[in-house]
Amino acid sequence: MKTRIFHPETDQNAIAEAAEIIRRGGLLGIPTETVYGLGADALNEEAVRTIFEAKGRPQDNPLIIHVPSADWLERYCRDVPAAAYELAERFWPGPLTMILPRREIVPLRTTGGLETVGVRCPNHPLTLAIIEIAGVPIAAPSGNISGRPSPTTAQHMIEDMDGKIDGIVDGGPCAVGVESTIVDLTVTPPRLLRPGGLPLEALREVLGEVAVDKAVTEKLDDGERPRAPGMKYRHYAPKAPVTVVTGDPDRSAAYIGEHLSPDDGVICFDEYAGDFAGHIIHNLGPVEDRLAQAQHVFDALRTFDVTAVSHIYAQCPDDAGLGLAVGNRLKKAAGFHVVEAGKKPIVIGLTGPTGAGKTSALAALERLGGCILDCDAVYHEMLRTDKVMRRDIAESFGDVFDENGLNRQKLGSIVFADPAALERLNAIIYTRLVPEIRRRVNASAAPIVGVDAINLFESGLDQLCHRTVGLLAPVEVRIRRIMARDGISEEYARLRVKAQKGENFYRAHCSDILVNDAASAAEFENKAYAFFCHLIKQIKEESNHE
Ligand code: TXA
Ligand code: MG
Repeated sequence: MKTRIFHPETDQNAIAEAAEIIRRGGLLGIPTETVYGLGADALNEEAVRTIFEAKGRPQDNPLIIHVPSADWLERYCRDVPAAAYELAERFWPGPLTMILPRREIVPLRTTGGLETVGVRCPNHPLTLAIIEIAGVPIAAPSGNISGRPSPTTAQHMIEDMDGKIDGIVDGGPCAVGVESTIVDLTVTPPRLLRPGGLPLEALREVLGEVAVDKAVTEKLDDGERPRAPGMKYRHYAPKAPVTVVTGDPDRSAAYIGEHLSPDDGVICFDEYAGDFAGHIIHNLGPVEDRLAQAQHVFDALRTFDVTAVSHIYAQCPDDAGLGLAVGNRLKKAAGFHVVEAGKKPIVIGLTGPTGAGKTSALAALERLGGCILDCDAVYHEMLRTDKVMRRDIAESFGDVFDENGLNRQKLGSIVFADPAALERLNAIIYTRLVPEIRRRVNASAAPIVGVDAINLFESGLDQLCHRTVGLLAPVEVRIRRIMARDGISEEYARLRVKAQKGENFYRAHCSDILVNDAASAAEFENKAYAFFCHLIKQIKEESNHE
């Protein structure tokens, strides 16, 4: 069969000819705002039979019918509740399918043998016009071959249906990108059978209580029947196995980063694409833009069908708004193979001049279950291991590395004589250090991470922290401590203290100040412990309010 591609934008007769295909009992690919559909006259049993055939769809999986307005509801449905009209008023035309009792005129072949029928009014001018001209409701499942991701462009439909159907109407890329939300209005309370283009929150605004079918969030046990028969099939599945990683995006990215093998692919939020350089990736859209994610999710799954990857990891949005539908499609593609990346740790930055008692403060934080990242140690590690940092330093400062590593004296003699050079060096270090610390924070399994950094603010590391704590102590106390600790003279200790930033710097920049005025290290550790307990409680309260 030759499949005609209609371009109504440039072809005046396209709509009428496409409608004629429906009237004749043919098969037509139709654009909707959600996904492309594979349409036929819903009242014509023979035409409906060919839909199942072209898709390779099991006969017991019912089709939804598409109508041009709520005025058609009475023709095909019995006992239509007032709520159906309220929903139609608010959300039609739009991505909402309502399950209602069917009238006899709707063949059982269309409803997969059920006494109910799914009805929706799609928000696409071309398809609405075709239904009006054809004068019959169009039964249309998504236009993919059964089991494949739903088509969101005419090109996708051509990939799956070329040669098998009479025509495809090109109506541009789908604005929503995931299928309609399905709500069953024949039960009390109404039940969400499939999350889709209309958020659950919007349904609840009109209906009040809405139950969520188990098939939306979980893999069903063998033999368990979902209320929407289609939800039982492993849908949308690319060829490679998929692992969906839920949780805070920083955490899910870190989880994926740790588990990724060289020939694995990633579906990730735009912000994290850089983390997976060198892998085949497909962007889902920005973290905060769930509509973009809905628009991209099927395309992402489809592209991985034609690229050879051995495993696909996917970051997953949370359940708010369209996130429920996006997450559901990803999880179904994964056969509900889902891992939870875990909560993000509380991050506390610690800074301050020497001799203020940092060791005791860090010990207190560790007693609270915190893990400490010593940024100075990480920096020294990177001087040995980070090729880019070494290269950039060498490019800027010449031959400062020898067989023992960095020649500090040589580099020091350059940068301490020239403030501009020091600034350049710091810029090189911070550009590499901050992402590395961020990565380590996110990869940490600890509930609390202490970021210990002398240059917490200058480096930008403070941006990673929920709070920044400045550790201060009276100057005379610090001098005595430095003398005892480092075995140096009072004069030299005073010089060192003078060379450091004063208290005012920390008071101006830190969100919190901890003063060490205790008589002993043990006493201060207890004070710090109480201080951090309080601070962590505050941070938890604040993040709950967000
Ligand atoms: O956005 C959409 O809804 C797209 C476009 C083309 O309109 N259509 C679509 O159809 O996604 P389909 O067949 O791929 O998915 C319809 C789902 C299936 O899971 C089916 O089992 C369920 O709706 N369904 C249809 N009629 C039903 C009924 N009477 N009771 C329960 N579930 C029903
Ligand atoms: Mg489908």
